Amino acid sequence: MAQEQIKLHFKNVTAHAIDNEHGITEEQFRELAKKTSPLIKQLNKERLDGETPYRNLPYNTQISQQVKELVNELKGRCENLVILGIGGSALGNIALQTALNPYMYNLDDTQRTGPRLFVLDNVDPPQLVSFLDWLGDRLDKTIFNVISKSGWTAETAAQLMIIRKLLLDKLGPNGMRDQVLATTDSKEGILHDIAEDLNLRCLEVPDGIGGRFSVLSSVGLFSAAMCGIDIDALLEGARDMDTRVKCEDFHKNPAAINAAINYHFYNHDKKISVIMPYSYALKDLSDWYRQLWAESLGKARDLADREVNIGPTPVKALGTTDQHSQIQLYREGPNDKLFTFLQVNNFDSDIKTGPAPDCAPELDFLAGKNLSVLLNNEKKATEYALIESKRPCLTIIFPEVNAYTVGQFIYLFEVTTSFAGALFNINPYDQPAVELGKEATFALMDKPGDEYKEFRKKIQSLTEIDEKFLV
Ligand code: PA5
Repeated sequence: MAQEQIKLHFKNVTAHAIDNEHGITEEQFRELAKKTSPLIKQLNKERLDGETPYRNLPYNTQISQQVKELVNELKGRCENLVILGIGGSALGNIALQTALNPYMYNLDDTQRTGPRLFVLDNVDPPQLVSFLDWLGDRLDKTIFNVISKSGWTAETAAQLMIIRKLLLDKLGPNGMRDQVLATTDSKEGILHDIAEDLNLRCLEVPDGIGGRFSVLSSVGLFSAAMCGIDIDALLEGARDMDTRVKCEDFHKNPAAINAAINYHFYNHDKKISVIMPYSYALKDLSDWYRQLWAESLGKARDLADREVNIGPTPVKALGTTDQHSQIQLYREGPNDKLFTFLQVNNFDSDIKTGPAPDCAPELDFLAGKNLSVLLNNEKKATEYALIESKRPCLTIIFPEVNAYTVGQFIYLFEVTTSFAGALFNINPYDQPAVELGKEATFALMDKPGDEYKEFRKKIQSLTEIDEKFLV
């Protein structure tokens, strides 16, 4: 553990920093430690019993080896890498790319260390049409990585069917096979069957790992490695975080403390959790976190099958952009939020402001200053203003943004989610509520089967536009 670690700073959630009504008192913190400490052992045991296989991904050299071999094979003839996937099969890929490659990566060939990356995580017609217009005759230099663990996701299946037809029309069956890589379940599912039938190259989504916990598997590693991201450092960061989050001393375990604090505020009328990076690179990790938190912790029933309808609402904001959009509400609106800032100590590049124009000496105080100083001071200023308004604030401090620290962050928040699930006494690894919408889509898209007929009528009668209510 020689490299610099990301750290969780939690002073500004304490009663000492805020007040007894809105902060955590020493007594309450002791209670949280007492409640959470046994869960560390419990989670470590569940992991040893094979119940949380995502915990072992950072150690899985077979996956990273397989990914690297495919990258070696494909990178030379790939100018564009297109991900077809959604939810946990897309958000991690986007987050890694934004965090670890330059802002202009896709547009500036001198800043690229691999193919351009496009993640099509929607079925929006104008978006796809515009993209395919741009792609034009670049098909033979484009790899399509279709990612779906279940293979049953309508959006991803529809995208694949569009791309397959296009490739068959333009490049024929061999061309199609050469340009598509499937990442899916190793044993079953429609995508698995399609991949076998069409003899596609394949990567596996390991057993027992849901989409939102899969970024450190082939799901996220392939696109990252293709685009020049150091996946060994990413996994090393996650492994080093693992030693910290399995530590049985609550006071040294950042995931246990993070989850306990979130749990406390949920139970003290702060059911909204705002994550606010002060770094553009980290902005899409908020989207990844939002899905992880929402799908894992938003549950109707607890482990004893009691109705609880529980779950903090994750909200993403970006510093400083959202200071000019959300802070008015955050300070003067309801005191119902916990804030988690992401702060970067050293940016990998920086830029100084020029001198103030002669006609505007009022701007002298900004002249010759590094932009990183302005950005980080704005974070401090926002945190200060929130504390003045008695709003609790956490900060995750990144010494810098690199593959190692991003790997740490991902693993920290995955395990925080497991701790939060245990504190809320719910199952964080399923997503039963997502299924109904998926089934309803199948019914509306005329999937055959008697069970869909009545279902279709029911959905239509409820969702039809009613003229009487149209203004
Ligand atoms: O986290 C999850 O399990 C979901 O968000 C899935 O990733 C998403 O629904 C896509 O599923 P699949 O990978 O089966 O296409």
